[in-house]
Amino acid sequence: MSNQRDRIIIFDTTLRDGEQSPGATLNGDEKLTIARALYRLGVDVIEAGFPYSSPGDFEAVKSIAETVGTEDGPTVCALARAREQDIKAAGEAIAPAVKGRIHTFIATSDIHLEYKLRKTRQDVLDTIPKTVGYAKTFTDDVEFSAEDATRSDREFLYQVVETAIAAGATTINLPDTVGYTTPEEFGALIRGLKENVPNIEQAIISVHGHNDLGLAVSNFLSAIQNGARQLECTINGIGERAGNAALEELVMALHVRRQFYNPFLGREPASEEPLTNINTKEIYKTSRLVSHLTGMPIQPNKAIVGGNAFAHESGIHQDGVLKNKQTYEIMDAESIGWTSNRIVLGKHSGRNAFSSRLRDLGYELSETEMNKAFLRFKDVADKKKVVTDWDLEALVHDETQQAPNIFALELVQVSCGDNARPTATVSIRTPTREELTDAAIGTGPVDAVYKAINRVVNVPNELIEYSVNSVTAGLDAIGEVTIRLRHEGNVYSGHAANTDVIVASAQAYINALNRLSAALEQGNKLNPQTATAVQ
Ligand code: KIV
Ligand code: ZN
Repeated sequence: MSNQRDRIIIFDTTLRDGEQSPGATLNGDEKLTIARALYRLGVDVIEAGFPYSSPGDFEAVKSIAETVGTEDGPTVCALARAREQDIKAAGEAIAPAVKGRIHTFIATSDIHLEYKLRKTRQDVLDTIPKTVGYAKTFTDDVEFSAEDATRSDREFLYQVVETAIAAGATTINLPDTVGYTTPEEFGALIRGLKENVPNIEQAIISVHGHNDLGLAVSNFLSAIQNGARQLECTINGIGERAGNAALEELVMALHVRRQFYNPFLGREPASEEPLTNINTKEIYKTSRLVSHLTGMPIQPNKAIVGGNAFAHESGIHQDGVLKNKQTYEIMDAESIGWTSNRIVLGKHSGRNAFSSRLRDLGYELSETEMNKAFLRFKDVADKKKVVTDWDLEALVHDETQQAPNIFALELVQVSCGDNARPTATVSIRTPTREELTDAAIGTGPVDAVYKAINRVVNVPNELIEYSVNSVTAGLDAIGEVTIRLRHEGNVYSGHAANTDVIVASAQAYINALNRLSAALEQGNKLNPQTATAVQ
């Protein structure tokens, strides 16, 4: 275990907590694609899901365990509430992995105990040995989390942690579930555990935190200074509410400022040995992939991976950077795999160049998907002179996203203008293979299209977000449309890309409606922390 304490363990929870972001639901194939990217990125642990929540999540975790849970691959972890049926599902789902972990949790703050669990502190202390002990029958690697640790009574928390370690937990995770703590407090909490829990040296201390006050990354860095060795984070910081601590920010902070952090891990300040196992050059690609597959755009000023993160707009900065990069740059864009020399394909590019570029970008396509994507590429290359990586990502995602194909868009046609009433006609193939056509008038062409689609599909919903993003500059750019809609409190997202934004808008809406319709057919999946359905 000592070799795990002199570096930082990166536990990625994009596929579990990240997927709890409203509307970010991923299907099994999408989860597997991200898991492969996380493997290439070099994360130590992938929290692949909450198997008890739905048969789909169980299968997704199992297939990740089978595919990336290899000898040299990451540990594959599954979440389970402190309940036998959850732990059993988690244990069975991770079984194919060479290194499998069960992560079981129970809330420990009085507010959660009284209002959510309706349990006493003693009930919690009695539950832990039973559930951790049961998890140990599936794997030696058991992580225990005290949900809402940062708002829990300190003395009680020490007792909880001691009990979990005595029952066999090898990692103890302290979640800042509601993003309430501050760096100083979080550091003191870790110190407190080290000073007051007699068996604490038998476990790795882990931290997990949400970004409600924008402090998650700072809190984690303070935790490291005080002895935490595992960081639970997500790509692009996605997750419940304001999200989780962002993996790329933590890793790059530890990389760029390693001279500052080295001594906290018992190293010489000047040591060049990386503090994490992450291959930083994979960061940018992984971030784009997650953004595409979850339909969660990255804000331009987002640290490390935002579109402007390495852009110098002002003349003084540009001048300085040209003279010496270090005047205004603390890290090299290339160190995260960002390159301005993106490979550009055109209409003469062949299938080999196309498929090898896609593989480099992290996409593994089946034969059929590759054929479809190549046809789309040829079509776009005819319209645009150059097809960049960004265009490719948009197209491939559009072709391969596994929004269930319940309704299929066959035709969309609009008429609009400053003196015309925006009118749309759509034809849609229904689940019974019938092709239905309808038309509507709207306040604009997209509104007219959505009204016409609603007349055919007839699934009540409220449109809560519509955004169009130009993938590259220029009038021939591909437009990416992301929409979110709500039905009975659950959020469903849809995403599509096309050089015609009206077509992209119609397709994105159909994709979201298909996700909604599939959820209605299958029943929603459970949220581990609220035990309500999410989609
Ligand atoms: O935020 C939280 O407390 C969690 C736990 C389930 C670890 O996600
Ligand atoms: Zn969380």
